[in-house]
Amino acid sequence: MTDRSGVFWTAKSEETLVDPAYRGQQIFEKMYDLLKQYAWDNGIRSIWGFTPATKAFTRIGFETPGKTTQIFFPLDSTAIPALLDKKSAAETQRGSGWLSRTAYRTAGAMAGLVSATRLSFQSSGHADLTLRLLSSAPDDAGNVCRNFVSQWGGCTIFRDRAYLQWRLFDNPHVKALFTAAYVGDRLCGWVAYALGDDRMGYLVDVIAVESRNSDVTPEVIVRGLLSTAIIDLRRMGALGVRGWHVTDHPFDLLVLRVARQLGFWHFRRGHDVVILPLPGKQSQTHSFSDWYITRVFTEGLLG
Ligand SMILES: CC(C)(COP(=O)(O)OP(=O)(O)OC[C@H]1O[C@@H](n2cnc3c(N)ncnc32)[C@H](O)[C@@H]1OP(=O)(O)O)[C@@H](O)C(=O)NCCC(=O)NCCS
Repeated sequence: MTDRSGVFWTAKSEETLVDPAYRGQQIFEKMYDLLKQYAWDNGIRSIWGFTPATKAFTRIGFETPGKTTQIFFPLDSTAIPALLDKKSAAETQRGSGWLSRTAYRTAGAMAGLVSATRLSFQSSGHADLTLRLLSSAPDDAGNVCRNFVSQWGGCTIFRDRAYLQWRLFDNPHVKALFTAAYVGDRLCGWVAYALGDDRMGYLVDVIAVESRNSDVTPEVIVRGLLSTAIIDLRRMGALGVRGWHVTDHPFDLLVLRVARQLGFWHFRRGHDVVILPLPGKQSQTHSFSDWYITRVFTEGLLG
């Protein structure tokens, strides 16, 4: 990750599993004792993850400072039941409830509006903003992340050229598309997005910074990037576009605002965040509300 003082290491918990026959015997705790020792010995400032098993994690010292929530842009009504809890999905199938009355109609209407979204973006009058689909990671990516924390504060995942190349372009599991935003010839942001096996489009990463000597604001850049992701994912056959909103970091709030203006819905459904800060060094670890994190954290199947 990176903040205004520079780049630092954190560790992301990827998978935890104990055979059901051996649960409740502190095996999880003992495995984590080894991992923690390794992490603290190697200058890792915190271990973080997302989990439904908060009880197991808080028992071994993790904090639960927040939850992920979801944003969703419907492109096809068949995508909707997967997003709902069981009760709402059952109501929807029976034809009762708020969602069945509005969501299915909205999904059809939204698909029709996609081209209008692009049109309104194209006519926004920012001739010096260009969006380009890249086939390899941009050299300047690390600088964008440095500028990002200097402009927006807090901390974010440090994605330099090498990280993005590994994570997105050379990823053996999922091929994401990567659209970069240039103001003049200066890289000012990007969006990465992928189509899942469930035919759902996933926003993997979004970032934007102020451009020098230009009236192209990060808000304009994010609007252009999200519009492009919707258009491309629709062309690829996506049933909808899903993304994350996680914290009150000012950029996370900006993405949410722009997404809602474009027609995304915001669902308060997601997983708990768990964080274990390096003991005695809490002051070095930002409060979780100052984090800006996206699905770019892992080279996994989730986009
Ligand atoms: C999480 C896990 C590794 C913890 O193992 P453990 O230390 O032996 O602890 P236990 O299995 O006794 O679980 C500790 C508590 O967490 C709860 N818990 C475990 N997994 C849970 C889950 N997926 N969702 C909600 N609660 C969960 C247990 O019910 C238990 O609560 P209790 O003491 O009130 O019964 C183990 O439960 C597991 O493998 N779970 C399935 C995989 C999983 O859910 N991993 C987390 C995803 S990141």
